[in-house]
Amino acid sequence: MRIDIFSIFPEFFAGPFDASLLGRARANGLLDLRVHDPRAFATDRHRTVDDTPYGGGAGMVMTPGPIFEGVEAADPPRPLYLLAASGRRFDQALARELAAGPGFSLLCGRYEGVDQRVADHLCDGELSVGDFVLAGGEAAAVVVVDAVARLVPGVMGNDESGGDESFSDTWDGAPEGTPLLEYPQYTRPLEFRGHEVPEILRSGDHGKVARWRRAQSLRRTMERRPDLFAGRSLTPDEESLLREFPDPASGA
Ligand SMILES: C[S@@+](CC[C@H](N)C(=O)[O-])C[C@H]1O[C@@H](n2cnc3c(N)ncnc32)[C@H](O)[C@@H]1O
Repeated sequence: MRIDIFSIFPEFFAGPFDASLLGRARANGLLDLRVHDPRAFATDRHRTVDDTPYGGGAGMVMTPGPIFEGVEAADPPRPLYLLAASGRRFDQALARELAAGPGFSLLCGRYEGVDQRVADHLCDGELSVGDFVLAGGEAAAVVVVDAVARLVPGVMGNDESGGDESFSDTWDGAPEGTPLLEYPQYTRPLEFRGHEVPEILRSGDHGKVARWRRAQSLRRTMERRPDLFAGRSLTPDEESLLREFPDPASGA
């Protein structure tokens, strides 16, 4: 997979793209990450990439010229997304969609943002990583690349499988459209500072463990993210799972 990133701070990516999973995927040739600096296409001797906003107001706006020229010179894989707090919310479904394709590209804004003509006439869409404002699109780009790259076949090892995790529903007969949050995970030691691993996880009864986990996922999602349930109610199977495991604290 090829991913191109346009940023006036290319050095931002040195750490995140070299470490751990992304670094390994690049070394293995599974991921071709290219960072381009639009500043190289600025025409004045100060390499200016921003200017004051038309209509007044605080701050500076990234000017379209160096961005258009930088993108046209790189001929990056499409879709090309502008990172913007006002964009479509990036989520696991889009991560999966992008991971299934041959590549995509991201454009990082800075200052007060980017001249609207870039979004309207150069990019294929605008993406937000959440309802907050970052200082620049670089941190958002790292989030998107990380979430997509780990889903590219071969990038995660067997011990890092992404099948049974938040926003992925592998439960047999799960209703469409409500990917749940992940259930709680435990490892050794059995007892830590007086807190024990739930008994059921040590029972060896795989069917019961699976049902307990499903009940935990349901309960967590209802409590923490009721928005994910908007428009649907619990199925009879789900109601019976919650009755089977009524105690959310111990899971007993
Ligand atoms: C300081 S922000 C600009 C914020 C903009 N004036 C606004 O009110 O939406 C600078 C850059 O950070 C990036 N950015 C900020 N928040 C983001 C978010 N939630 N998701 C994606 N990118 C974001 C965008 O590329 C943006 O152009």
